[in-house]
Amino acid sequence: MINILDQNTINKIAAGEVIERPMSIVKELVENSLDANATNITVEIKNGGISYIRVTDNGDGIDKDEVRKAYMRHATSKLLTSEDLEGIMTLGFRGEALSTIAAVTETEMVTKKRDSLTGVRYMINGGKEIEFSEAGAPDGTTIISKNIFFNTPARLKFLKTSVTEGSYINDLMIRISLSHPSISFRLISNGKTVLSTSGNGKVKDTIYGIYGRDISNNLLPVDHTSDGIKISGYIGKPFISKGNRSFENYFVNGRYITNVVIAKAIEEAYKTRIMQHKFPFTALFFQMDPTMCDVNIHPTKKEFKYYNEKALFSATFHAVSDALSEREYMPGFNISENKTEAEKKVVNNSNTSDGGINNNIRNLENTAESKSNTVSDSASTSSSTVSNFSKHSSNNNTLKPNIKKPSMGSYSILEKLLPKEYLAEVNEKSKIYGEEKDSAQNKTEDYKDESAKIFNETHEQKEIETVQKNLFDDDYISKEAISHHKIIGLVFDTYWITQYNDTLYLMDQHAAHEKVNYERFLKAFKERSIVSQKIFPPEVISLSAVEMDAVMKNREYFLKSGFEIDEFGGNEVKLSAMPVNFIDISGRDVFLEFVSYLTQNISGINEDIFVHRLATMGCKAAVKGNQKISFEEAQHLIEDLLTLENPYTCPHGRPTIIKLTKQDLEKKFKRIVN
Ligand SMILES: Nc1ncnc2c1ncn2[C@@H]1O[C@H](COP(=O)(O)OP(=O)(O)OP(=O)(O)O)[C@@H](O)[C@H]1O
Ligand SMILES: [Mg+2]
Repeated sequence: MINILDQNTINKIAAGEVIERPMSIVKELVENSLDANATNITVEIKNGGISYIRVTDNGDGIDKDEVRKAYMRHATSKLLTSEDLEGIMTLGFRGEALSTIAAVTETEMVTKKRDSLTGVRYMINGGKEIEFSEAGAPDGTTIISKNIFFNTPARLKFLKTSVTEGSYINDLMIRISLSHPSISFRLISNGKTVLSTSGNGKVKDTIYGIYGRDISNNLLPVDHTSDGIKISGYIGKPFISKGNRSFENYFVNGRYITNVVIAKAIEEAYKTRIMQHKFPFTALFFQMDPTMCDVNIHPTKKEFKYYNEKALFSATFHAVSDALSEREYMPGFNISENKTEAEKKVVNNSNTSDGGINNNIRNLENTAESKSNTVSDSASTSSSTVSNFSKHSSNNNTLKPNIKKPSMGSYSILEKLLPKEYLAEVNEKSKIYGEEKDSAQNKTEDYKDESAKIFNETHEQKEIETVQKNLFDDDYISKEAISHHKIIGLVFDTYWITQYNDTLYLMDQHAAHEKVNYERFLKAFKERSIVSQKIFPPEVISLSAVEMDAVMKNREYFLKSGFEIDEFGGNEVKLSAMPVNFIDISGRDVFLEFVSYLTQNISGINEDIFVHRLATMGCKAAVKGNQKISFEEAQHLIEDLLTLENPYTCPHGRPTIIKLTKQDLEKKFKRIVN
């Protein structure tokens, strides 16, 4: 017999798509609050949201006469006709969230519109109305959802532990609050506030509120517009990387989404600066014509498609790579064995107190660290033994190291002993006299949590001061300086040690070589002066239809890079020349490896990526094994390397040079304390 299902059963089934777990409820409710113009949203959960979720907002509220309607399926105030679906700007539009939540939980809503005298309390359990009454209430809406899946025990079994479910909610709230810096969010888990953002509209403050100092101090601003796509926000310096993509946040028209094209473009832009299998931190805001986007691919609205993927790829790639090319840094040594108590305290203070969020910070991995434990970049240690280089502007190639800051330990003691007003004065003075002109990275170490704001206000000013001070300091890579570099010698057939002023530098010969070759190739490509070598006899290479298509599409790039290819009938090409920098590798191998790369990138690649890939392959080929070089050759290599715009990382993201200051050594030998 064929039955027509009743509405409640339909809703329960539909809930399977929209409401997967407690996090889905939080997402739907918070999105509703955002659509209702709330500026304050508080989420409270118990047991990871399994037993209790409450979302309170100060938004528009729902009219008494519309409350029941809001809980009907396909009831929405956000969409009138199907035409409205094109270009949707609200987060919700399907009109099914409330009805599905009510179908699988015990729900209570209290809501009041600003111009109403009283509000409404509405209770609905498993889709059945329990109570509808007038109630005194503040403006806005509160929705409580208890005991998710209480009436669908099979679904309940699929939930994970409350800790895991709670961490999903945590991640979600991080992303939502990041994408709405003008809205103040609070997440309370089992009675403890685990996330809180100011809602003052500043993205950087929001990042600080969520991720803490390690990240907010190591950001590069992004601002790029092309092909009708505007991208703004921040990306992390390359060493703030993670073993998975959870640091990659990007938002389209205010909505958190996932999209392979964007992810690919971000990672491609970081490629030369970040280790393999590491992923960067990003908080990128895309603005684009909503009629060109589709978010209605899946009921959770998480997937996203843009009509012109090539433009999206290229805009993202350029936005990120432009921001990255602004600054560089050189890793130092981490020779302090243990963090001092004061340092630990500051690290702990850098966040709100939740395990989940702190884990994000604890999980901070850095590229240099994974290569060798003795090497660490400046972000991984708040220790004052490390100073880093910062480039002061893109059109000035002089790099300056930062200056040692006052030791944190002693400062913390001072903080305890002296009245606050006095400290503020000292701070002010040291700013004026330039005693505390260190990098952005060290900036807030001496400040307490609440001072995030001050940090942000003084940030810009300090950065300028740093740069000015550094102009008079060690300019390691200036022409003049390079002639004073003293080469000490070679260790382990790999590392060249040089001394300049009070600092020892170790250069990885292999990485340096790769970098120099790589940059040479890029330069030659730009100047159209790549030298080709003929292949005798020319190779005839058979390709698949897909490969042939990829070759033809990128033919122009091949020609510009020194390949000579001609169609040979069918899916065959004749290869008669290749770029000269591929020593000892057959043209056929290089060509085929490249073709295989091209076919894997369905979204297409641009000229920059093409040439970067090729240069990376070429520089690897050019430097094989531990070639022995003389002092003189090493001198040349160092000179070549240091004249590059970005000398400090090899094309694969590994460091080329690290440094150890005299002061570091003196500390190690306990000649000086602190
Ligand atoms: N916090 C809230 N404040 C004010 N109005 C709300 C709130 N939550 C829901 N509403 C009203 O209830 C309606 C139904 O909400 P529901 O979430 O079910 O659908 P939707 O948001 O329109 O679409 P979607 O299913 O895509 O989320 C909304 O269109 C809105 O008018
Ligand atoms: Mg909704």
